[in-house]
Amino acid sequence: MSVSALVGLQWGDEGKGKIVDVLSRSVEIIVRAQGGANAGHTVKVGDKTHILHLVPSGVIEPRSVGVIGNGVVVDPVQLVKEIKNLEAAGVAVRNRLLLSDRAHLVLGWHKALDVALEVARGAQALGTTKRGIGPTYSDKASRSGIRVGDLLRPDQFRARVREEGGLRNRLLAALGHAPVDPEAVADEALQTLDDLRPLITDTVAFLLQAHAADRNILLEGAQGALLDVDLGTYPFVTSSNCHVGGLLAGSGLPPRALDRVLGVSKAYCTRVGAGPFPSELQGPLESALRERGREFGATTGRPRRCGWLDLVALRYAVLTNGVDEIALMKSDVLVGLGPISVVTHYRIDGQVHRDFPAGEALWRVEPVLRELGPIEDFVGRGSTETELPQVLRDLVALVEDETRARVSVVSVGPERSQTIFRS
Ligand code: IMP
Repeated sequence: MSVSALVGLQWGDEGKGKIVDVLSRSVEIIVRAQGGANAGHTVKVGDKTHILHLVPSGVIEPRSVGVIGNGVVVDPVQLVKEIKNLEAAGVAVRNRLLLSDRAHLVLGWHKALDVALEVARGAQALGTTKRGIGPTYSDKASRSGIRVGDLLRPDQFRARVREEGGLRNRLLAALGHAPVDPEAVADEALQTLDDLRPLITDTVAFLLQAHAADRNILLEGAQGALLDVDLGTYPFVTSSNCHVGGLLAGSGLPPRALDRVLGVSKAYCTRVGAGPFPSELQGPLESALRERGREFGATTGRPRRCGWLDLVALRYAVLTNGVDEIALMKSDVLVGLGPISVVTHYRIDGQVHRDFPAGEALWRVEPVLRELGPIEDFVGRGSTETELPQVLRDLVALVEDETRARVSVVSVGPERSQTIFRS
């Protein structure tokens, strides 16, 4: 029995949803601990594709319990919609989903401010998902947030919404945007209470007890290491700690509970939104990766920027998160693409770097590439490791060499069955 953490090692969209789904058969409790509905986790089971934003991906497995932890920012309307969509698709989650009373609520003005601030940034816009994430975490950090538990006292909740809504409307007006109606915000949130009340729990106490009882727990990270508010490509990051530390603080489990850290990386790299991207490709090769990998945002539908696997960034993500094992995803997308490359070093102002720099220097990186050759198609898309083509095996060896972490999973297609577990 163990506690595992699963973290994205790039800029999100690494394929964490599939890995959680594959692992969830042996896991009893799956926890989301940071981020909010900015996440879009795609899980494909049989002929059905589920896109989850707030509900942990592992709940597709009928025996698991899903927890939305204290570190998540929760849009209550979106959550109820997601639960109902899952039920309509035949996945009943209501009786096995818990929602932390400590989680902060994303309300109407958070989403309005997210849009207003992006407009105000003009050419420096971050390209946020406009799901209200930044403004909600700002309120949490400045101690003016409203939490899920506040919904349980509707009169006080309404009074807080009037108070905070009034303040935020002054800000919206200063930015030249229409106000939100605090009464409508309160009504909309309170209408979710019938659905959410049975889910609202002290999830910290629940998880501590579950850990004491030796139950198998998986902390499911959202976004990725390079979008972490402290360690990522600031300011082009999200507003939570996607780092493994954020998963602990956002669930209430102590650091020493953690037995294993599993990192997820694609066999190439993508990023949505603005910000530096050292291994980014341009032209037909980028378009080919995007089309083959269906690299369009699960939350916003935006085309993702695509590039080669960046071993400098990957090593940084693995080392800062203490990753034990890596799942290398979407390797099949590289099949038939022509010769593939990886970034092994950076050159900045003529100097070679192996460390991932902070801030402005990232814009000046000239990536140093190593070409590995083309990956040919492989029969049956490799149900065993020995069927993997040599170039793909070389890529796996290089990742292990550079990061000193073991590549324990190679994903060779979207289906659960298209997953190779390396012994
Ligand atoms: P926010 O999290 O909506 O504030 O967006 C900040 C940055 O993080 C933007 O570049 C987004 O595109 C990116 N981002 C947020 N969530 C995800 C995700 O789940 N996958 C990929 N990128 C994300």
